[in-house]
Amino acid sequence: MPAQAQGPEGFEAVGSVAVRTFAAHQSPQATRTHHSMDGHHVNARAGDGSGAPHNHFADYDELPEGHFYDPDAEYEPDPEYAATLAPDAARQRRERIGPTGRPLPYFPIPGPLTDHGPAKIIAMCNQKGGVGKTTSTINLGAALAEYGRRVLLVDFDPQGALSVGLGVNPMELDLTVYNLLMERGMAADEVLLKTAVPNMDLLPSNIDLSAAEVQLVSEVARESTLQRALKPLLPDYDYIVIDCQPSLGLLTVNALTAAHKVIVPLECEFFALRGVALLTETIEKVQERLNPELELDGILATMYDSRTVHSREVLARVVEAFDDHVYHTVIGRTVRFPETTVAGEPITTYASNSVGAAAYRQLAREVLARCHAE
Ligand SMILES: Nc1ncnc2c1ncn2[C@@H]1O[C@H](COP(=O)(O)OP(=O)(O)OP(=O)(O)O)[C@@H](O)[C@H]1O
Ligand SMILES: [Mg+2]
Repeated sequence: MPAQAQGPEGFEAVGSVAVRTFAAHQSPQATRTHHSMDGHHVNARAGDGSGAPHNHFADYDELPEGHFYDPDAEYEPDPEYAATLAPDAARQRRERIGPTGRPLPYFPIPGPLTDHGPAKIIAMCNQKGGVGKTTSTINLGAALAEYGRRVLLVDFDPQGALSVGLGVNPMELDLTVYNLLMERGMAADEVLLKTAVPNMDLLPSNIDLSAAEVQLVSEVARESTLQRALKPLLPDYDYIVIDCQPSLGLLTVNALTAAHKVIVPLECEFFALRGVALLTETIEKVQERLNPELELDGILATMYDSRTVHSREVLARVVEAFDDHVYHTVIGRTVRFPETTVAGEPITTYASNSVGAAAYRQLAREVLARCHAE
């Protein structure tokens, strides 16, 4: 581990980079404060599902001209979110520094939509296993749906974890995304399931999908099979989020070919960046050869523990490597996420006032702000 040098103004040398940090992180007092905040700093404004205006940023249309998301701009940080991650919220507010060590912009609460579609397709992708792809798909989807966006989640992993996470037993399904891919004339409506979350539907999968990887090899335009299958659904949704399996095989290439954007969840652990070069290379190849529209929307740091130097060090390295591609929103590590899988529902409904729910609402706002800034 590189030497840590604590500067007088909360600057810390992590390897060769200087990151702004919270001195309070290291004190036992801070740890206590952090614990005591858990559950208290609830997302009172966001997530009431109504999208009702709570402040002058409530609707994008009301923003002053030119007042869109700017990653370099310094806004007053969103206090409810600042409180969830920073042990010393007052100091964070004063310094306006987010958990990634950069100034934390304000992400406006999105206003209600009157029209829906055409959908933006997001692939949640990392060939490394267990980094939070499925958790992020469910909870980003649920948070977008809470903000009144129509969301379709696509389980594109034969393990069916996304389906399980939404309370569906994959083994009992007759029709899955496999049928939609492989059977000509199969209507998406026959495969679609409504979830318990209003505005959010699911294209479920199960082990059948593993056969598609083999069968697709001999298909014409095999990489764009999912893109063709999703096309009729675009007008009905605002966001389609595809939960990829942990591999860079043909199924993942299909997801990248169908997508407008990629979100790469990275666990704040040793070796987080291992394999990411291969992933970005794959994204670039798909961009060049199959889908020129594809863009890396962002790198999402997950399972972050602000109390450990290690987590902060990994996050600093990720920011060093990917700069503005790293979302300002960081997902903390909490046992609440494994609990939600057992419960079969998103954290936004299972523990609506939790830090984890607030974090995914914040991510939804950041994703919407990035899309809107284009
Ligand atoms: N922020 C978090 N804090 C604590 N646990 C988490 C967090 N995010 C996800 N988990 C847990 O980590 C495990 C792996 O998460 P998840 O299934 O979302 O990863 P994945 O990338 O989809 O995995 P796979 O590559 O196998 O599909 C799950 O048990 C999940 O509940
Ligand atoms: Mg998964």
